[in-house]
Order: sequence, then structure tokens, then C-alpha cells
Amino acid sequence: MSIAILTSGGDCAGMNPAIKHFVDYCFYNNVQPYFIYDGLEGLIDGNIRKAVHEDVAGIMHEGGTKIRSSRSKRFFEYAYREQAYNNLKEHGIDKLVILGGDGSFRALDQFYKDFGVQFVGVPATIDNDIFGTDYCLGVDTALNMIRSATDAIRDTSASFRRGCVVETMGRDCGYLALVSAITCGAEVCIIPELPYDLENLGKKLKSQLRHGRRYIVCIVAEGTKQTQNIVNWLEHDVGIETRATILGHTQRGGNPTVHDRLMAIEFVTNAVDTLLSNASHDGLVVVYKNAKFEFVTIDYVNSNKYQIKAHLTKLAKSMVE
Ligand code: F6P
Repeated sequence: MSIAILTSGGDCAGMNPAIKHFVDYCFYNNVQPYFIYDGLEGLIDGNIRKAVHEDVAGIMHEGGTKIRSSRSKRFFEYAYREQAYNNLKEHGIDKLVILGGDGSFRALDQFYKDFGVQFVGVPATIDNDIFGTDYCLGVDTALNMIRSATDAIRDTSASFRRGCVVETMGRDCGYLALVSAITCGAEVCIIPELPYDLENLGKKLKSQLRHGRRYIVCIVAEGTKQTQNIVNWLEHDVGIETRATILGHTQRGGNPTVHDRLMAIEFVTNAVDTLLSNASHDGLVVVYKNAKFEFVTIDYVNSNKYQIKAHLTKLAKSMVE
């Protein structure tokens, strides 16, 4: 049997440990591992190669993805999917492991419906926005990147008596911003999932400034599109000089944390074991739910929108009102 791995969509730390473990674990199981380079675009273009141990030597600690990634529009078209299928046939590849978000899983599900190529998806996105899993690969490293940047920004803000607005990624999901706001001790947290009361927050902060507060940290999720408004509010209503930092793609890179390395290994072990079990099944996703790994269908992943757990949003109450 031959199994190929590909990484698709936004990359994240943890993909390289996953790729390394995939190769090691396939060899351990006497299975030939393949790489599909450049995500779904590479699948279409036949950018496929047998993996050898040397390919993954020394990549455990590296961010990004050694086999690269892409966001493919062509894969939506049947003719390109057929071309992709012919490439797999040519290499004798039976099954796929794909690391990515729900869009990538949907794309492979269509591929499975067209040509019957079995696959298992591993949730890998810093956004942590996939329904059915509590954790997506890369999130812990992204949170640590945000923490380290915010700690540094707080230092300089305190030196100047300034406000700082830190914008995090996450697309429409406020998970990164929320957890960062809680764990960095922010004063304000603006995420799509929570209403906020700037009037009341402003009153509280003005009083604190009068009583010696030297800085204000606001974490804003990109999905709210409120970064500039919060800067204006701090400067004009609260009355503190303010700078904004858009952390951007720094959140997608960096050395994977221990947690992301371990999660990568566990996700991939589960994915490969299922593909090796020979049980016939539709496209599946390995999810981490209530501290256990399990499998759900693509339809299940697509059946609902990911929601941040209420116990976490509750912790941000004082940062929104
Ligand atoms: O989905 C991951 C993500 O990093 C989002 O948080 C962000 O909105 C988007 O990708 C950025 O995409 P790109 O790398 O294509 O600019």
C-alpha cells in the first residue's frame, strides 16, 4: 500500500512534525510514503515524489511545511480533479492524509466522491475554527507567538504610557484573540463572538488611568475589522496615545511547541492507523474532542459552525463590558 501526505491552505507550526512522523510511521508499518508538494495544486500538477528518511531529518523543530502548501481554485473543476486522480494512479497511491482546514477537507471529499480515493483529514489551522474538534494543529504555537509579541509590546507601552492594540488572525473566529487576551492580561478583548460596551469600558479605563494605570492592552480579532476603530476610541474617548500592531503572518510560523509536536504525532498516528485498517469508509477527519481522538465524517464537520466554549468566553467578561 502507498499513502501520500499533503498540506493545504494556510500553513501552521506542527505541519513539519506531522510530516516527519508520517514518513517514519509509514516505514515502520512497511508502507511506502509519498509527498504531494504544493498542496492541491501539486496534486493537479503531478508534483509527487516518494519520501525518504533524509527528507524529514532535522525538521521536527521547524515551522512552516517542508512540502509547501497552496490554496487551489483549479481543484473545484472536475477536469483538474481528474488530472489529479491520474497522477495518483500513475504513482500507485491508494490513500491520502491531508493537513488543512475544512475547505481542504471538502475539496478532498468531492475527490473521494468522484474517484473513490480514501483520505483522512487532520485539522491544521491556527484559526481553531473547525467544527467537531476542540483543537487544531498549530494553535498552541500561534498562541505562544502572540503571547511573546504582546508581552514585548506591553513593555514598550508601559514605558510611554500608551495604549496598544494587537490584532490577531483567526479569520471569522475569535479563539486566538480570546485566549490571548485572557492569558496576556489584556484590558480589552474584541472578538466576533462577543458584544462589547465601549462606553462602560471607557469609563473604567479613564478612572484607572487617573489612578496611575500606565498602559492599556487591547486584543482585537481580525474578523471584527475593528482595529482602527479601537485605536481611535482609545485616543479620542479614553485619552491615551495608542499604537496598533498587526501580528499577521508571524502567527503562522515559528518553532512548533511541544504541545503541537505531540498533537501532530498523535493526529498522524490515528490517521495512518485508520487508513491501514483497510476498513472501507468515506472521507474522515481525526478530531480531538473531550481529550480523546476520534473520527468524524466530512458531512459532520460541515454540519455546523465551530463555537468557542462558553467557559472561555465567560472569562473575558471584564474585557468586554
Ligand atoms: O486560515 C489561516 C489564516 O492565517 C487566517 O487566520 C488568515 O485570515 C488567512 O489565513 C490569511 O491568509 P493568507 O496567508 O492567504 O494571507
